[in-house]
Order: sequence, then C-alpha cells, then structure tokens
Amino acid sequence: MTHSSVPAPSPDQESLFAAAAADYARYRPGVPEAAVRLLADVLRGRPDPVLLDLGTGTGQVPLALRHAVPGLAHIEAVDVSRQMLDRARDALAPVLGRCTLTLVHAAADEYRPPAPQPGEVVRQPDLITCCRSYHWMPGPAVLAMADRVAAPGAAVAIMGDGSLWSHDSEWTRALRELIQAYLGSERRAGTHATYTEPRRSYQEDLATSAFTDVSEYRYPVARTWTPAAVVGYLRSTSFAHPDLFQERHEAFEAEARQLLDTYTRDALQEEAVFTVLLARRPGTAS
Ligand SMILES: C[S@@+](CC[C@H](N)C(=O)[O-])C[C@H]1O[C@@H](n2cnc3c(N)ncnc32)[C@H](O)[C@@H]1O
Repeated sequence: MTHSSVPAPSPDQESLFAAAAADYARYRPGVPEAAVRLLADVLRGRPDPVLLDLGTGTGQVPLALRHAVPGLAHIEAVDVSRQMLDRARDALAPVLGRCTLTLVHAAADEYRPPAPQPGEVVRQPDLITCCRSYHWMPGPAVLAMADRVAAPGAAVAIMGDGSLWSHDSEWTRALRELIQAYLGSERRAGTHATYTEPRRSYQEDLATSAFTDVSEYRYPVARTWTPAAVVGYLRSTSFAHPDLFQERHEAFEAEARQLLDTYTRDALQEEAVFTVLLARRPGTAS
C-alpha cells in the first residue's frame, strides 16, 4: 500500500538515489545483528508495535525488524526515491504476514501519517529509524516531525557505519585516491553536488530536539570484501556512481579492479563501527 497525501520530493532529491537502487539492493551490507536486537528490545512489550523507517532505501531496517519482532504490526517506510521504495516493497512483501506496510514517497521532514479511515485510529510509531540516511536530511526538521508523530514512550534511532570513502585503511585510501584522480579531490554527492560534513553533530541535533534522553551504542563490524563486491558497492554510492564518470566509467572500473587485485593477498578487510544513537523524550525510558 502507498499513500500520497504528503508533498512529493524534489526531482533533485529523487535522482541522486534512483539509479543506484539495484546495486544498492545487491551490494550494501545489512544491519548488524546486535543492533537489530537493540531495536527489537525497544519494541518488546508494546502492543501492536509500529515502525517508521526514514530513508528506507531497499528496506534493510524493516526487513531485519520484521524477522526479529514477530508481533510487528505495521511498517511505514519513507524514501525520496521511488526506485528504492519499489525494491523495499519487493523485499518486504514476501515476509509481511499479518504486518501491514505503507510506502511513502516523500522527504522525511515532510512526512505525515495517512489520514485514518472513519473509525480507525492514527498509528503512532513506537520506533522511528534513520539508518545511513540522517546525513541526507534536514536533521532538526526531521526530529520536529518525529516529535509530532511519535507515540508516547517512542524512541528515535539514528544509526550508521560510514562508508568505504571514510574508512581508513591502505586499500580504501588507494581506492579513494583513484576516485579523486577521476572526479577531483572533493567527495561528490551525486552529479550536481559535493558532500559537505554536517554543520552540527547528530548529538547536537538531538540535544535541541524533544528527544534529549540519548544513549550511544557502538558495535564493531568486520567485513571482508571481494574486488567485484567493492566495484558493485561503488556503483551504489553517491561518490562513485557511474553517471559521475560519464564515458570514463568503464576505464575507472577496470583500473579499480586492477588496484584492488593488488591488495587481495591480505584480503580486503573493513573494520567498521556501527553506531546507534537511541533517543527518547525525557522521562519516558521503559
Ligand atoms: C544510504 S541510503 C540508506 C538506506 C537504508 N536505510 C539502509 O541503511 O540500507 C539513504 C537513503 O535515504 C534516502 N533519502 C535521502 N534523502 C532523503 C530525505 N530527505 N527523505 C527521505 N529519504 C531520503 C535515499 O533515497 C536513500 O534510499
């Protein structure tokens, strides 16, 4: 089910992720088990729990929680990219069972819940998640929206684990330098923009929101990549998407494969940390 009573995202917002959806579904790592358990605990004991996932992408968070929380009653999945929402629907539909799903094509800060049918109550989310997506959003406006829609005692989880651009190891540094040799030194964020670091930390955003009771959880994750998976992953990113290279993309991929092959003797290891900021309104922690 989809609902469209919210303003559609701008074409710019939408195009950045649209073309990446297929590679994203195939190559992006999922959410670590320990983080999934933490989020499942938030929902434990709440009657007919509702999840609102902002920047859902291919539906990684709802998919993990659908499995971890058998009583999950409803998922509201929001994204600016229709292609991402299509992937999320394809991934979730086979596992929904009695859980209902609404896909919302909108910018997260513009989200509002669907108008209830006569006799129906508004479903207020018990958990609002932003996984690897908050940095794309106007944070304070998103948190103000979260306060308007969240159930009493709800939690907001802002989480993620960086990218192969930001990961610091010999092979990721060499790869970043190769991307820079093709695209310039600044980190790109789609065809029209460069990436800018958030002006404030997520913690600072939360400190001025309604969700000031914040706990931080850090989960180390070790991943081993193959050259083919790295090249596939790069296609799904805003900093090395094929469109950025135009007619030089084939040459870039060939060079990237060659470079990565020189490192495979020791395997392509990534030691990441998946961080979850779990925030509640003060005095509501269960
Ligand atoms: C890096 S992906 C993360 C997807 C997913 N949460 C995950 O962890 O795999 C970021 C997603 O946020 C979406 N997005 C970017 N800006 C958004 C906004 N302002 N509102 C809603 N979604 C947005 C993109 O379309 C993309 O699907």
